Amino acid sequence: RESKVIAADLLAWYDAHARDLPWRVPPGGPPADPYRVWLSEVMLQQTTVAAVRGYFDRFTTRWPDIASLAAAEDADVMAEWAGLGYYARARNLLACARAVTAAGGFPRDRAGLQALPGIGAYTSAAIAAIAFDRPETVVDGNVERVVARLFAVQTPLPRAKAELTALAATLTPAARPGDYAQATMDLGATICTPRSPACAICPLIHRCDARAQGIAPDLPRKSPK
Ligand code: ADE
Repeated sequence: RESKVIAADLLAWYDAHARDLPWRVPPGGPPADPYRVWLSEVMLQQTTVAAVRGYFDRFTTRWPDIASLAAAEDADVMAEWAGLGYYARARNLLACARAVTAAGGFPRDRAGLQALPGIGAYTSAAIAAIAFDRPETVVDGNVERVVARLFAVQTPLPRAKAELTALAATLTPAARPGDYAQATMDLGATICTPRSPACAICPLIHRCDARAQGIAPDLPRKSPK
């Protein structure tokens, strides 16, 4: 399978169509600030991009780097987080900021990142790829859907998770893994959407097995609850 071609097509699409999000650097640019990547990814864990924007701007205006956040009063951070929900994230955010500041910076590898409060498989991969240019594969719900369709995976979720993660990893390029990760998330959020995917404008239309079989809107399948 032409995984290199898929990554190249997706990166070319991202170069032209990347969403302009406050935590991003321009495609192909220098790596993003790990503090801003970490903060945005924690906020995005259970919250939409639209809801996160304002919070991200207020947090980074008030606490422009991780040392300033680490020095904040707990109550101030909780108050600034109010409305985002899942308040364990805010408590972990502070604990993580203090641990990273005490250590003199973020670990650059996934294992070190995952040892920090509030950082799991998804967030560690996102930080390693986007901030540290590591060829890690970021898999969220959007990416699961994109991969299930590209490979026409019929296994239902959640059983398909391991299979989709393995397939996603085969597509991750050695160069620009952070841009690639964000390209797959953008594709899933804006084109390869759950109900009515916009296949006509998809950069991967000719590489998508589900599209070829006419079943893109039906994937990924879900186990009955
Ligand atoms: N969702 C979570 N993280 C994201 C990112 N970095 N870009 C786009 N969508 C996201």
